[in-house]
Amino acid sequence: MASKKLKSPKHLSDTLAQIKKLGLQNCISELELNGFTIIPPRKVASTQFFNKIRKTVLRICEERTGKKFSLSKNGEKGKYKAQPQTDSQFLLYYLLMADPIFEKWLMNPTLNAMMNYLMKGTQQLSSMTSFVKWQGDGYGETLGLHSDTPPSTPEGLIPNAWFDVSNSTYCLTDYTLKDGAMAMVPGSHRLYRQPKPGEGVDKAVPVEAKAGSLIIFNGGIWHGAFPKQTEGLRLNLTCYFCHRKLKTQEAYQWKVTQEMLDRNPPEFAKLVGADDHMGWDAKGPDYSRPARFL
Ligand SMILES: [Fe+2]
Repeated sequence: MASKKLKSPKHLSDTLAQIKKLGLQNCISELELNGFTIIPPRKVASTQFFNKIRKTVLRICEERTGKKFSLSKNGEKGKYKAQPQTDSQFLLYYLLMADPIFEKWLMNPTLNAMMNYLMKGTQQLSSMTSFVKWQGDGYGETLGLHSDTPPSTPEGLIPNAWFDVSNSTYCLTDYTLKDGAMAMVPGSHRLYRQPKPGEGVDKAVPVEAKAGSLIIFNGGIWHGAFPKQTEGLRLNLTCYFCHRKLKTQEAYQWKVTQEMLDRNPPEFAKLVGADDHMGWDAKGPDYSRPARFL
């Protein structure tokens, strides 16, 4: 009897074709095995784009803090009221709404191919932030290890829920151990739980990557960061994604403008939840917004 060839669902075959086209097959293997992967700059974006987005992040740092920042030297330690997380770091929030270049980043083919693989096309953007970090103790001895899966997720037996989030770090400066690289515990994404205080520190490895690299990581992996021992800044652009059924950290659904939707491909609307008609008012559903599952 002739065996029938099994066919993959379309979204999966499209994603796999894209991964092949971009030469990301090895990254997928690493992601499965270790829970994270580092994609080299040449497979991520042009040098011109990289320079432009880094300059934009620095500009926003200065606009929001009123301080001057230098990539290579210890400058003024800018404080930013939106939750400085340690004495040597603050976060810039809501970058998608700050400049159109961040919309371009959200549509980056490499970022999207990897997220489509990890989240099977169910993802939406939860937040787009920059971790601005300088010399100091950082998270201290625990390295701040945690999993990005929301703390309310039951532990242990529900792996699907542990994969409802995924994360990505676009390195805007070199990441080395001394420069305060991210810390990851390889394989910890298969434990489906948060680390206990101090747990995993002895197994954490530095994720060393050249500026322009893209680190993609499974939402369940235990991660944190090493302290920055050198002068200057460690800068990144972090895009955190969650399943469409979850609430996003940052508000996009009703905040993105028609202009933003018009200048981007239909996938943009899906990633910011603008194609979701839920959340009616007295007029009922608003179908003037883009149709779902374009
Ligand atoms: Fe995290």
